[in-house]
Amino acid sequence: MKFFKVDSYEKLSRQAANIISAQVILKPDCVLGLATGSSPIGTYKQLIKWCDKGDVDFSEVTTFNLDEYVGLDGSHDQSYRYFMNSNFFDHINIRKENTFVPNGCAEDLDEECQNYENMIRKAGGIDLQLLGLGLDGHIGFNEPDEYFCRDTHIADLHESTIKANARFFGDESLVPTQAITMGMVSIMQAKKIILIANGQGKKEILEKAFYGPVTPFIPASILQLHPDITVIYSEN
Ligand code: GLP
Repeated sequence: MKFFKVDSYEKLSRQAANIISAQVILKPDCVLGLATGSSPIGTYKQLIKWCDKGDVDFSEVTTFNLDEYVGLDGSHDQSYRYFMNSNFFDHINIRKENTFVPNGCAEDLDEECQNYENMIRKAGGIDLQLLGLGLDGHIGFNEPDEYFCRDTHIADLHESTIKANARFFGDESLVPTQAITMGMVSIMQAKKIILIANGQGKKEILEKAFYGPVTPFIPASILQLHPDITVIYSEN
């Protein structure tokens, strides 16, 4: 594991963006696993700038997002599809048909999970996975539990996650209670992983996840077993 502590969110974002652009430059038709939340916004902004300058080209890239709220369609401004389009995809030269986010409004959600799983396999798996870190140690929406969930599945969001995400919705009662999330197999089979976290609030969970025991009660702790993981943390 490589652990970088940097002194600003800007540096964190540039460093993560540097690793992602290196991946895209070395393998233009790579498969990126992408994340939402506030942490990756700076990374996406930096990548947009470099794409504008012609330094990085996303035209052959395929992306799979980690998760989506159940019940929100892509036009809802809190859906992760909407987030990805407005914070990233709309501003780079990626082909939208090569960007995948689970469909939280699918008629048959179990089938949607299975299809998503199959699509990732068909694309050859993920070359580089970007992750944020939930305050309870979740990655994607893999919440603390007695076991690690293998495949793409429907997760019941824990109360603390609902509370943490209420800031985006304005009111806790508006936060969906379930989400479709990629499971641990696709995440752990990614050839390379970058996890980004910023702010004092993430310090304790980061220490538990990366310097404590590997346990499903802190889902991110499984990442300690990944052969190529880079963690970038900024306290500010
Ligand atoms: C959500 C997302 C996660 C993300 C987490 C942390 O719950 N499902 O993928 O990592 O929030 O978000 P933030 O970066 O805003 O702290």
